[in-house]
Amino acid sequence: MPVALVTGANRGIGLEFVRQLLARGYEVHAFHRKSIGGLADLACETLNLHCVDVADNSAVEQAMETIRSPIDLLINNAAVYDGHVGSMLNTSGEEVMQMFSVNAVGPFRTVKAAWSLLSRAERPIVAMISTGMASITDRPGSNAPGYRVSKAALNMVGQLLRHDLHAIGGSVVLLCPGWVATDMGGRGASLTPQQSVRGMLARIDEQHNEVSGRFVGYDGSPRPW
Ligand SMILES: NC(=O)c1ccc[n+]([C@@H]2O[C@H](COP(=O)([O-])OP(=O)(O)OC[C@H]3O[C@@H](n4cnc5c(N)ncnc54)[C@H](OP(=O)(O)O)[C@@H]3O)[C@@H](O)[C@H]2O)c1
Repeated sequence: MPVALVTGANRGIGLEFVRQLLARGYEVHAFHRKSIGGLADLACETLNLHCVDVADNSAVEQAMETIRSPIDLLINNAAVYDGHVGSMLNTSGEEVMQMFSVNAVGPFRTVKAAWSLLSRAERPIVAMISTGMASITDRPGSNAPGYRVSKAALNMVGQLLRHDLHAIGGSVVLLCPGWVATDMGGRGASLTPQQSVRGMLARIDEQHNEVSGRFVGYDGSPRPW
């Protein structure tokens, strides 16, 4: 039975990843920060819950120590958003650092703590849930500055880990989910979590060594760096 780990799994896109992975026959380790939220409805023998704040290094490491099986698929989904901030000058260094700790360093921490479990899988895949707002060349707007900065850094984290994953027969993909109706995306979004996650899992299915490190939309369209 393949094994997956999903961070930020209690609501939104993360919860939908858990739902679809369980339906595909995966054993799933679902990381949630506080409340288990919608995970309560998915309870089954192949779902394991871990209370983990990805900004807390020791919490991430301790959770990994309780996992025995190799991890075939690690989905770094947890993130925070500062959409209310209209301009970089309206934010503070502390707020940007907080975004950085969750959105860029959180995935790095998680991969590093999971490394021995990833190394034991035959072809481990790491999926980083990025965003079109991470793009530097796509003439970014100025809203959500901490989010943009941290997600651009996440893309670099993915590129750097590509080399390490290659050495253990694995690969990484940076995925843009599209605009999705969640607490973060809001009600007016164009996609349901079901549509977005179905697309992202199709991209993960295509994953192999030669396409490792690509930045791609849920629909397969390449995203500009
Ligand atoms: N929705 C969109 O339109 C959209 C577009 C582009 C990219 N994305 C990306 O897609 C991913 C999922 O977004 P979403 O729309 O599902 O967002 P969401 O509804 O706001 O859910 C965010 C998830 O991240 C968790 N989280 C936040 N901080 C955490 C921390 N420190 N440790 C552990 N978990 C933490 C939240 O847990 P709590 O419930 O405890 O807060 C929640 O489970 C994110 O990476 C986001 O950047 C979303």
